[in-house]
Amino acid sequence: MTKHKPRPAKTTNERMIKVNHAGENGAVAIYRAQSWMVRWRAPELLLGVLENLTHEKQHRDIFKAYLAKRNVRRCVSYHICGVGGTVLGLITGICGGKAIAATTYAVESVVLQHLETQLAYLQNHDREAYDAVCLIIADEQSHHDQALLALKGTNFWTSGIIKIVRLSTELVIRFGMRQPLKH
Ligand SMILES: [Fe+2]
Ligand SMILES: [Fe+2]
Repeated sequence: MTKHKPRPAKTTNERMIKVNHAGENGAVAIYRAQSWMVRWRAPELLLGVLENLTHEKQHRDIFKAYLAKRNVRRCVSYHICGVGGTVLGLITGICGGKAIAATTYAVESVVLQHLETQLAYLQNHDREAYDAVCLIIADEQSHHDQALLALKGTNFWTSGIIKIVRLSTELVIRFGMRQPLKH
């Protein structure tokens, strides 16, 4: 049996899952790069970072399975998210515990808002996509809550990291959700 070439995402639901898949690749890259750095900068954080990394790989697999089932190709931003996430993870990992917490808090707070918006749409449009998003929300909430606890207030540097990372995450989502010019 010949396998058809994956097609571009056509519907809003497919675009949402395609963007989530790329975003999870970015999250995997962030935590993986941080796990290399925290071994010598803040070893007490290593277990938490590795646990988050395991979650993000599972999330990526959930969205990958959805896209594969529909033969939808991954987002063009997939590898950009991977490279950007690695750079962000390396820089914040070198900076230590507060920078790691600020990054996680910033990414996850944008992601959670975005997922809530998706759920409101998907519940009436695509049950399978809705269920896929439901599977990851508890993990993302716990990443967010743990980071907020570790952050314990912000200073000049952490609030700068939060602003930059929030903006970058929002840009990645907007870029991925744009309507294709042609199919
Ligand atoms: Fe995730
Ligand atoms: Fe997460």
